[in-house]
Amino acid sequence: MIRKIKGQLSQWFGGRFDLEKLKEPIKHQIEKPLPENVGWFHTLGSMSLFLFVSQVLTGILLLVYYRPTVGEAFESVKFIMTKAYMGWLYRQIHAWGANLMVIIVFLHMLRTFVTGSFKKPRELTWIFGVFLFVFTLVFGFTGYLLPWNQLAYWATTVGTEVAGAIPGVGEFIKLLLRGGANVGAETLSRFFVIHVIILPWTVFFMVLIHLVLVRFQGIATLDPVDSKEETKSKREVPFFPHHVTKEGIVFFILLGVLVTLSILHPFELGEKADPLQTPHGIKPEWYFLPMYQVLKYFPKLIGIFIVSLAPLFLFIWPFVDRTKERHPLKRPISIAFGILVVLSLLIFGMMGYLSESKRQFFGKTYEFDIYGVPHEIAQANNHNS
Ligand code: HEM
Repeated sequence: MIRKIKGQLSQWFGGRFDLEKLKEPIKHQIEKPLPENVGWFHTLGSMSLFLFVSQVLTGILLLVYYRPTVGEAFESVKFIMTKAYMGWLYRQIHAWGANLMVIIVFLHMLRTFVTGSFKKPRELTWIFGVFLFVFTLVFGFTGYLLPWNQLAYWATTVGTEVAGAIPGVGEFIKLLLRGGANVGAETLSRFFVIHVIILPWTVFFMVLIHLVLVRFQGIATLDPVDSKEETKSKREVPFFPHHVTKEGIVFFILLGVLVTLSILHPFELGEKADPLQTPHGIKPEWYFLPMYQVLKYFPKLIGIFIVSLAPLFLFIWPFVDRTKERHPLKRPISIAFGILVVLSLLIFGMMGYLSESKRQFFGKTYEFDIYGVPHEIAQANNHNS
């Protein structure tokens, strides 16, 4: 039956298009061999792609009931979570997907950094990648406000305030984002447009260019830049079925993780935004915590200068690390630098997470100040925040 339909389809299309011409390039792409160093870590790129597609699909479902107005946004998300058919599931998959996407895209970036894949001739693939990473974060920042709850409202107020402190252009950026003096109806519609129209299309085309570059230039080996071995690998792994099978396996694992987290640790909606009530200890999303924490230690301008250097460094990295070696063991300085950056992100992130909260460790209660420094408090006041 399937064979019959297949035959009829190819006859129908074959009578209208020269399918023979397409067969060869498609076969070439599918059978293209990959270098022997390609393993499980090389599935992080396709995992990022899978998460992006999942975000688009669940985002479309959310759009059916979501209303981007101050009066209706919170209630519409509540409706999705409690009444819409399977609404709770696709809202949770969307929320968890956003968080996982930040982690996976970051890990993919780390993988290409460690294996020196950003070096010649793949500098542009890296630069488009950095744009994709930044846009993934902006996706998170703009999406966070859309449920119009207290946490989101105040995190956006703080976030746009930080942008406002950039010398020269800050006030303009803040006004552009907020659409007025404060976060309000204008901000919600601006974030909505950025989140559901501007970013998805921009990321779509950027991913397309990124993937075309990857396909044209092939996956990097661990051999030095411009060496003969680079173009002719010793042992090769076929893209299909070897690598595609690995991608299929991680796809199902990721899907399982998304559904499990959605069921076991659902995101709460919290309370509706109230511009007149500032909650205690407002914090941005976890992936902005390292940056937010660094800003606390320095005077405003110096802090902004330091946190702006990070993305700038990422963009120009292929032109900074110009040695020919790709193998991580032969690039001790850049790998040490990478480890230092990852450790700083973890430490500052953790300090940001603990700051302005009370926690119990080994039976003692500590109050963490805004700098994340713990102060032990008397037993009589013991209770967790
Ligand atoms: C939505 C985000 C992204 C998607 C969907 C994506 C997708 C992919 C895919 C499917 C591959 C080939 C397989 C692999 O190496 O894993 C790849 C390769 C690559 N990506 Fe990404 N990527 C994204 C973000 C990034 C970021 C943030 C960077 C770095 C800043 C980056 C840099 C690279 C580089 C340098 C390669 C070539 C790897 C090599 O030749 O070994 N990508 N990407």
